[in-house]
Amino acid sequence: MKTIQIEDESWRNWKTPRWKTAIARRKDGDQEQYSSPMAVAIAKGVIDRNHTLFDYGCGRGGDLRRLQLNGYQVDGFDPYWSPRGSVAGAEDLSLIYVLNVIEDAQERDELLRSVFGLCDRNLLVAVRIDNSNPHEEVTSKQTFQKYYADDELATILEDVLGREAIVRKLKTGIFVASHRHRLTVIPGSVAGAKSKPATAKAERSQQHDLNLRLVA
Ligand SMILES: C[S@@+](CC[C@H](N)C(=O)[O-])C[C@H]1O[C@@H](n2cnc3c(N)ncnc32)[C@H](O)[C@@H]1O
Repeated sequence: MKTIQIEDESWRNWKTPRWKTAIARRKDGDQEQYSSPMAVAIAKGVIDRNHTLFDYGCGRGGDLRRLQLNGYQVDGFDPYWSPRGSVAGAEDLSLIYVLNVIEDAQERDELLRSVFGLCDRNLLVAVRIDNSNPHEEVTSKQTFQKYYADDELATILEDVLGREAIVRKLKTGIFVASHRHRLTVIPGSVAGAKSKPATAKAERSQQHDLNLRLVA
């Protein structure tokens, strides 16, 4: 199992109070609501009960608790809300609304690289989006928020994670970067296979056409 050491109380070095961005979600019957990226990833089969999941930057832990109650093999970590000295990887890893609260681009890239290295299969990434006006702002609570454009996030994921990552958009602001070596082509789905695509974007769309699926 891959692990990374986490600097104790790293949150004390943050330039803004990022922990304040973590919200408690409303109840859905007697359970907390999933974050919308987690609900989408489950609905699309990216996250399932057959694979271990690590929720990185889990905030107040709402997704974690609901997943555990529903039989998912899940653990999580947050530097402020759920600190620990080291973090062990899992098959899948979620990074939900974390990148957009980090003020520094280099730190965002380094975090992406290290969490992709911690998972064996799917990295689920969700960020705040403003496609018509991507921007950064400091809120009234003095927290930082970066609003991405979907294309910008796709390009960052491809550039930072490199050729080992296959990047797919699930929905606006919700992307999956899958480890290439865990992908296979469903038999019979390559009849219309196209020639080698010229760009990463073209490759992403070709992979979609070829109906690539993750294998366990
Ligand atoms: C907007 S909250 C999202 C929490 C949770 N994922 C959710 O969707 O409810 C952002 C969280 O990222 C955490 N965070 C900030 N920087 C981080 C880092 N470098 N590594 C891990 N978590 C971080 C903060 O403590 C905060 O709880």
